[in-house]
Amino acid sequence: MLLLNLDESGRTPPYQQIFLQMKDKIELQVLRPGDKLPSTRKLAEQLGVHRSTVASAYQELWAQGYIEQRHGCRPVVRERMQMATAKDREQEGWVRWQAVTSAASVSLWKQCREMKPAVAGETGGEVIDFSSLDMDGRLFPVDHFRVCLDQALKTEGTALLGYGDRAGYMPLREYIAGHLRSHGITITAEEILITNGLQQGIDLVFRMLAAPGQAVAIESPTYNKIIPLLRFCGLKPLEVPVRHDGMDLTMLEEVLRRDKPVLVYTMPNSQNPTGISTSQTHREQLLSLCETYRVPILEDGFEEEMKYFGKAALPIKSMDKHHLVIYAGTFSKVLFPGVRIGWIAAERECIDRLLSIRYFSDTSSSMILQAGIYKFCQSGHYARHINKMRRVFRSRMQTAIKAFDEYIASDWAEWIQPSGGYLIWMKLKSPAPVRRDEWESLMLRKGVCAAWGTLFFAGETGESYIRLSISKLNEQEIETGICRLGDVLREVWNNKT
Ligand SMILES: Cc1ncc(COP(=O)(O)O)c(C=O)c1O
Repeated sequence: MLLLNLDESGRTPPYQQIFLQMKDKIELQVLRPGDKLPSTRKLAEQLGVHRSTVASAYQELWAQGYIEQRHGCRPVVRERMQMATAKDREQEGWVRWQAVTSAASVSLWKQCREMKPAVAGETGGEVIDFSSLDMDGRLFPVDHFRVCLDQALKTEGTALLGYGDRAGYMPLREYIAGHLRSHGITITAEEILITNGLQQGIDLVFRMLAAPGQAVAIESPTYNKIIPLLRFCGLKPLEVPVRHDGMDLTMLEEVLRRDKPVLVYTMPNSQNPTGISTSQTHREQLLSLCETYRVPILEDGFEEEMKYFGKAALPIKSMDKHHLVIYAGTFSKVLFPGVRIGWIAAERECIDRLLSIRYFSDTSSSMILQAGIYKFCQSGHYARHINKMRRVFRSRMQTAIKAFDEYIASDWAEWIQPSGGYLIWMKLKSPAPVRRDEWESLMLRKGVCAAWGTLFFAGETGESYIRLSISKLNEQEIETGICRLGDVLREVWNNKT
């Protein structure tokens, strides 16, 4: 007979006591695989409980894999695989990931490891991090957004908790279409696909075009996620140098004629990493060239809103009469990157094709977040926030420019003055060669870090360049960081001369 004791204090329900005691007996091998348990009637009589109490305990044992139950038969203890413990997880696994990983994913893996986070510096304080294009959370309009999310849920409720429209929340698409019209782009909501950030838009376009042997013309240097992603998609990057006014158009024409790329990827505003914004003329000429060769353009408008110095040129898409331009935008670089909402504006057929790729990958974007963002935009908070960001960063960039003049001698480095955005591209000079790791460790010791130039080129170029991003730093941090950078350069010059 199976000995079980029921505690009648009522703290633990009787069915659970039976379950736990049976489970212990099975785990301690008092009951072994193949052993039969008493029938529900018999055990209920023995314990003085209702049959349904025993049946519930057996149901739980079955659900957790301890017994097998067949209609009309007594339950039988089954051979059950042991659960993995925390200790097991510490052991080395049996899969050799290096052997099973596709060659294409290796460059992504390597690139990710290259992007090391900042660590504490010699100054005792935090490292001032110019490496990241993340946003300054201190400027996030959290309270307004919370109210908007709440309102959206209150008014639309369950409609926002389903998958929703595959192409995105229609009111938001309508808002974006209207907003793009204010930038000179004539577009309808049907020509807009909401994506999980602009990065997904780029990924979708690359995957739509990917075929062995095909190539994409890109700026050189370019946004650091482009080259690894192109390679992952099996597309060949064709680097076209960036001059003071954007991509070298003579070289682009040569590439278009000779290599027949399937796409030209460009960032006309505050190009990442150089911070260069192209002129209206350059944009017109780039479009004309692509029209001549009938090559589509992926226009990355990540910094469309952050043109805060001088005259703002119109997006290339605004002049696109032949649906050549796929325009990609985002809320990440002016509002919150964490909501992961971006969009693609393109010809309807192109949108449908991108939508189908997206549908088989991550289905759609979060409806609730889109609705919250829509409420935020519709109630005027977005327009006000853009104005605030322009005001704040105009002043922060002026602080950076002033600090360069004050702390960095022109012999030590050259840099490009940006016309907006968050980025400053700098060429470090030194009287004798300095290796990248030497620069980096010196910078970290002084409590400052930046994104290394090599991340933005296909080859080994870029060793003496750094990209400084002020996107998450306030004026005091910017000034202190540039002063520390000046100390690094002074030290290099003192040691190497
Ligand atoms: C040039 C460029 N495009 C796209 C993105 C991706 O933006 P999102 O956060 O919307 O995916 C970034 C992010 O830094 C970027 O620098």
